[in-house]
Amino acid sequence: MREFTEASLTEAVVKRIGRTPDARLKKIMSSLIRHLHAFVRETRPTEAEWAAGIEFLTKTGHMCDGKRQEFILVSDTLGVSMLVDFINYGRHAKATESTVTGPFFVPGAPDVPIGGSIAAPGTPGQPARVSGSVKDDKGKPIAGAVLDVWQASGEGFYDVQPQSNTSGGTNLRGKIRTDANGEFWFRTVLPVSYPVPTDGPVGRMLKATGRHPMRPGHLHFAIEAPGFRRLVTHLFTAGDKYLDSDAVFGVKKSLVVKYKKAKSGEWTVHHDFVLVKSGKRPRR
Ligand code: BEZ
Ligand code: FE
Repeated sequence: MREFTEASLTEAVVKRIGRTPDARLKKIMSSLIRHLHAFVRETRPTEAEWAAGIEFLTKTGHMCDGKRQEFILVSDTLGVSMLVDFINYGRHAKATESTVTGPFFVPGAPDVPIGGSIAAPGTPGQPARVSGSVKDDKGKPIAGAVLDVWQASGEGFYDVQPQSNTSGGTNLRGKIRTDANGEFWFRTVLPVSYPVPTDGPVGRMLKATGRHPMRPGHLHFAIEAPGFRRLVTHLFTAGDKYLDSDAVFGVKKSLVVKYKKAKSGEWTVHHDFVLVKSGKRPRR
């Protein structure tokens, strides 16, 4: 019988997975085991504390369904989603910067013609008009780029949230295609700051660690065009009081835009997006 000690256990567990055929999986699992053991050695949890940790993960899983993804929220609020974003998207000198996807993206948004509205009549919020272009990093317009756009209403809820009184999965969402000049515009409501969902384990974690749950107002974009890297980003509203303390650490200066009030009372903003070719490596 083999007996392990606190000192010898970690490497014994790593050795046990030594025959993992997939080299990448082996590397990831070995690292996970070593870091997890190091965390336990450093924090020396009581059994009750360890059970509370397991309970947190169990409740997080139970909170998830087709419309609610509490694990993404854990990753977002602990800054891990942004770390993965920094590692993978990197920083290209001229490209529009990326940020988190978040848990409220719904595939299959309705097509919206240029100049149409993504907000159903009666959607709470102040009217806004968003325009811009999609170009490559040499400034050449990209015609037919698809901008998948989604946002919360002027009351701070996404259509898929139970607190929202608009239609689930299609309101404040739309796919807009750039015209022959690589340009687009659409109508919507002005994005406002709102809290990430706090009625689950993440809400309790934020409260216990003295954090607020707010995100600054923003509009989400996932932009695709053949031959270009898919860009997932936001446009944040300048002047929002939560720009410096976004609950999910997603703000980048280059993504903060200023809305101007037109004579008609509509808020207007213009932004030019730059995509990079699919094959280009991130600059580190
Ligand atoms: C969002 O912007 O939709 C979001 C992102 C991360 C966590 C919660 C919400
Ligand atoms: Fe959002």
